[in-house]
Amino acid sequence: MAEVIIVPDAAAAGALVADEIASLIAADPEVVLGLATGSTPLPVYEALRPRLEGVDVSKVRGFALDEYVGIDPEHPESYRNVIRREVVEPLGLDPARINTPNGALETIQHAGDDYEKAIAAAGGVELQILGIGTDGHIGFNEPGSSFASSTRVKTLTEQTKKDNARFFDSVDQVPTHCITQGLGTILRARHLVLLAFGEGKADAVAGAVEGPVSASLPGSAIQLHPRVSVVVDEAAASRLRRADYYRYAWDNKPDWQGL
Ligand code: F6R
Repeated sequence: MAEVIIVPDAAAAGALVADEIASLIAADPEVVLGLATGSTPLPVYEALRPRLEGVDVSKVRGFALDEYVGIDPEHPESYRNVIRREVVEPLGLDPARINTPNGALETIQHAGDDYEKAIAAAGGVELQILGIGTDGHIGFNEPGSSFASSTRVKTLTEQTKKDNARFFDSVDQVPTHCITQGLGTILRARHLVLLAFGEGKADAVAGAVEGPVSASLPGSAIQLHPRVSVVVDEAAASRLRRADYYRYAWDNKPDWQGL
């Protein structure tokens, strides 16, 4: 079962996850991190910055979850640029070691396989940061995605396009297709850390953690993974039926267990 950690706010979640990532980097300077874009992981990246000051991060490796297909590589909202702006530059990582799926049309037919090979060659992802969409997607695995899926092209739902329109001038400018790590890819990471904040995520979180395991709610794939931390604020936790138990378990967790 996922370990559910209910925190007062996004900053507390960021601090908790950043502590874990900083320890991983201290233990293995070449650690492979799974990075997410969107609003949710930002408090993690912000909290990481002071924790990594003076630390040699030049060998840290990373793989982003997804990218828009056919987006101008110079577009500020291409995930390659978002990861550069929000993660690589502020944390001082080596851009050559941080990968994003290639959304270029010319190579899109083999871009998924190339990405899978690159992740495997790096030895797999140690800790994968995840957000969740209001429709339950993780990565851009929209409802109906196979639990065995690998990195491939998907069509964004209307809901996801609307949710992401805030990053573009209008909803029509949100690309129709994306290339995303599959649910099977995500499940191969050794530790999944899913974050969610706000009332708008409460149904998706409850479905992912406590609902039936179903491709109709891709986030429920986390129930198939042996090591998952779900870090949520009170609002995102508000539809969890066993919230009292999760709080009790966290309050009584032995110190040596870590996140
Ligand atoms: C981003 C990603 C998506 C987002 C999800 C939530 O790389 O893969 O699954 O995590 O759409 O987005 P935010 O965090 O903006 O609410």
